[in-house]
Amino acid sequence: MELRYLCGFGNSHATEALPGALPQGRNSPQRCAYGLYAEQLSGTAFTAPRHLNRRSWLYRIRPAAVHQPFEPWPGQAAWISRFDDLPVSPNQLRWSPPPWPEAPVDFLEGVRTRAGNGSPDEQAGNGINLYTATRDMQGRYFYDADGELLIVPQEGRLRLATELGVLEVEPQEIAVIPRGVRFRVELPDGRARGYLLENYGAPLCLPELGPIGSNGLANARDFLAPVAAYEDAEGDFELIAKLGGAFWRARIGHSPLDVVAWHGTHYPYKYDLRRFNAVGSITYDHPDPSIFTVLTSPSDTPGTANMDFAVFAPRILVMQDTFRPPWFHRNVASEFMGLIHGVYDAKAEGFAPGGASLHNCMSGHGPDAETFEKASSADTTQPHVLADTMAFMFETRRVIRPTAAALRSPQRQADYHQCWQGLKKHFQPQ
Ligand SMILES: [Fe+2]
Repeated sequence: MELRYLCGFGNSHATEALPGALPQGRNSPQRCAYGLYAEQLSGTAFTAPRHLNRRSWLYRIRPAAVHQPFEPWPGQAAWISRFDDLPVSPNQLRWSPPPWPEAPVDFLEGVRTRAGNGSPDEQAGNGINLYTATRDMQGRYFYDADGELLIVPQEGRLRLATELGVLEVEPQEIAVIPRGVRFRVELPDGRARGYLLENYGAPLCLPELGPIGSNGLANARDFLAPVAAYEDAEGDFELIAKLGGAFWRARIGHSPLDVVAWHGTHYPYKYDLRRFNAVGSITYDHPDPSIFTVLTSPSDTPGTANMDFAVFAPRILVMQDTFRPPWFHRNVASEFMGLIHGVYDAKAEGFAPGGASLHNCMSGHGPDAETFEKASSADTTQPHVLADTMAFMFETRRVIRPTAAALRSPQRQADYHQCWQGLKKHFQPQ
């Protein structure tokens, strides 16, 4: 099937897989073309301000209500949404990449929660997960009522067959599946792993640009939404739902990906991080990492995000008489980082693609000793091209609480603190 995309972030898109399937002049005509049902999918309150409102109208073979009753599903116990049962230590934490599972698992079964905050009930906070998958979701569809899903592939492509169409994403691209949208994940490369943010809060949006102006960072036109594509399939399928932190399963006699046409603002989309237009200092000093924000989930406090997704993409450092890598710092916000590709400029070793680090509220961190020594004596009259890198950060206003499984994981690097122990005393009062 040829993949086509609609272009632009936040636009109200309209798409139909059959000519004339989209009604004109009204959302819910008395009878829809082709015998379709009209159904509204609301991702924000009906009364959300116009520029924040997310809703789509779906024209589908059967309404979403048609399925057998849901019952608890025991197939996923490692994707969790409660984070208040353990004290949070101020220790810096880092993990090596997760191993590939021995038994075959699909995308849904292969999610493991590393950390999180808030809760689905509050509709605030985030779950931070890793996924490893080695088989397609077969006869199984999933939707998440608890949050919006930001998928950050690190290895292996994903084919995301959703109600609103198909997205294919590869490492260094991201995909966002809105709350409630039903989908199935296939693995064109046979296996895949990466990071999965479950955003319980306000839907992700582009950050304001302020004095940067009307261009830069992630440009709206580079976000791609799928065109309508439907499955008219009947069989013995299962629909898995996540609601209130629990998983539920219902039998369903047809594919729920049966939307023939849709229009609106609540839809999945993808973005290529290699298109990020990094803005930085052209005089001196290393700017705050907020300059690298791709998407943000605002909280009720202006400028203080439920979650910022920032990316450390290839860029050219030209700041003079400056310590160029990220500085030593402590932050009221909490920072979970991952590495998609290459090398991150604040760490010489130990932070591998597929790995992760967590620096919580007010925990000191920064470049390791080797990076500090090198950058302190670098020639800053010459530009430095960072070509081979793609790291990212989930930064959130709330403390990020690691799970018990993350703390006892064999991938946790017990010696992470050692990377700063080599920082020598240089103080010379004379
Ligand atoms: Fe930091």
